[in-house]
Amino acid sequence: MSIVERLRADRNLPDEELKTLLESDRFDEELFKAADEVRRSVYGTEVFLRGLIEFTNYCKNDCLYCGIRRSNTADRYRLSKERILDCCKTGYKLGYRTFVLQGGEDPFYTDDVLCEIVSSIRHFYPGCAITLSIGERSEESYRRLFESGANRFLLRHETADEEHYAILHPGEMSLANRKQCLFNLKKTGYQVGSGFMVGSPYQTMHNIISDLRFLQELSPDMIGIGPFLPAAGTPFENFPQGSVKLTLRLISVLRLMFPHALIPSTTALGTLHPQGRELGLKAGANVVMPNLSPVEYRGKYSIYDNKICTGEESAQCKDCLRMRIESAGYEISDSVGDVRRVY
Ligand code: 5AD
Ligand code: FES
Repeated sequence: MSIVERLRADRNLPDEELKTLLESDRFDEELFKAADEVRRSVYGTEVFLRGLIEFTNYCKNDCLYCGIRRSNTADRYRLSKERILDCCKTGYKLGYRTFVLQGGEDPFYTDDVLCEIVSSIRHFYPGCAITLSIGERSEESYRRLFESGANRFLLRHETADEEHYAILHPGEMSLANRKQCLFNLKKTGYQVGSGFMVGSPYQTMHNIISDLRFLQELSPDMIGIGPFLPAAGTPFENFPQGSVKLTLRLISVLRLMFPHALIPSTTALGTLHPQGRELGLKAGANVVMPNLSPVEYRGKYSIYDNKICTGEESAQCKDCLRMRIESAGYEISDSVGDVRRVY
């Protein structure tokens, strides 16, 4: 059996073989084909859309790679509950059945404030999924938000290697706490997404293998990876961007290791390559997260430079994406797109 066939059959490989697969282009054709077959066997040709609402770019953290870190100069904004509900309304009309509330870690949004926002969305859109991507909070906070109607949570672990984590983050943040948050989220009942950046400063292949091993331990429902892109004004502004090829290979490897996972073809991938998102879908991804934020704020949510889709109206984004998804051989699903778990 070839190395790709073994990864597919066992959903696993020894470290050395994972490295071989990721470091060479010899297996690419076979790898992408196997990942696409597995994706089709679980999810058919469906692509799930998640309407992304970037509701605040205030952040109390100072991650060294991030353009909205607290020490970076940025034009800060917050969206009111009414404005957020407006975005949901626009999204619902366009067919979106998942809303992702993403923001920096902004203390303005206390549990009371956020629970009120979440329960209003739940009230107006009972059949929709509400995903939060708001960083590290207490177990109690995660529980209250869940009880208010949120049912999915995205929190990338960013890197599963302690030393590498300490290079990318300020001293007051820890990998241990990040992991604890992820396990708390699972325990609370959320569908949980994690993931990491590809090609972040000082990342080694050994780090990436640790990321895959951590994901096996966590067994998340969603896995988001995207290339690192430098952000102006940050300590890493002059570091090289991540590789499209390696990101695509990793998407395929993840699809073979986690056949049932929801894997987005990320905006970062689309930013790095004009057909990045189509290539991601062909490599095994099955989710796209178009921007639903009000156009006047989009440019301000600049976690990295040159982000795409910051000028388009939401309806234009949807049309553009439909074309891209269909040209890649898939179709937009109109379902809420829950994970198909294996028991
Ligand atoms: N390049 C690529 N991805 C980034 N993120 C943050 N900053 C960058 C960057 N400069 C990713 C992180 C975070 C997600 C919302 O965006 O992985 O979890
Ligand atoms: Fe905001 Fe990292 S800079 S969470």
